[in-house]
Amino acid sequence: MWCTSLMSGRVLYLLACGAPPVRYLERPVREARARGWDVCVGVTPTAAEWTVDQHAGWERLAGHPVRVRPRVPGAPADGWPPATVTVVAPATLNTVNAVALGLTPTWVAANACEAIGKRKPLVVMPCVNSAYATHPQFGRSVEVLRSTGVRVLYGPGGFVPNEPGQGQPEAYPWHLALDAADEAV
Ligand SMILES: Cc1cc2nc3c(=O)[nH]c(=O)nc-3n(C[C@H](O)[C@H](O)[C@H](O)COP(=O)(O)O)c2cc1C
Repeated sequence: MWCTSLMSGRVLYLLACGAPPVRYLERPVREARARGWDVCVGVTPTAAEWTVDQHAGWERLAGHPVRVRPRVPGAPADGWPPATVTVVAPATLNTVNAVALGLTPTWVAANACEAIGKRKPLVVMPCVNSAYATHPQFGRSVEVLRSTGVRVLYGPGGFVPNEPGQGQPEAYPWHLALDAADEAV
């Protein structure tokens, strides 16, 4: 039995992809709770594989189960409340492109696609190196997402890409994503 310890009424879906900052996801979970958010954590299968040792800790902090895969039809609901705001961070090249193209290879991508369709507040903060960032599809995807009202925190005031191999996952600017979530309500 899962219980929601924080009845703030503001629910943040914090959805993370397979990029190194996901190893530091506990930080934004704690920070979001301190800001008054009820937090639900979802991760892509890649991110889940990298962080499986941390899921129990996230679940204790958030008070909700970590979601990785879609529910099997007919299976009982896991008790997540509806989202007020969804944040996808770190967002990989793969997931940014999938969401922009309306593809749903993972539960995280599917949830973000749904948020767009339902006109719900969605914040996406990429984590891409400069090689990924210069792939022509990435720029197109950022444009598509922004044109549908998604807040994409990329470039000045958002995530700035690093050279390949020079990423600093511990310095990923989670606070910008949480500021954007606060501003969205
Ligand atoms: C060590 C390592 C670091 C990676 N870092 C990134 C990254 O910062 N950004 C990114 O877009 N992909 C990165 N990738 C590639 C993604 O993990 C890969 O594209 C994966 O399919 C993403 O799946 P997801 O979007 O479903 O999480 C990295 C892969 C590895 C093995």
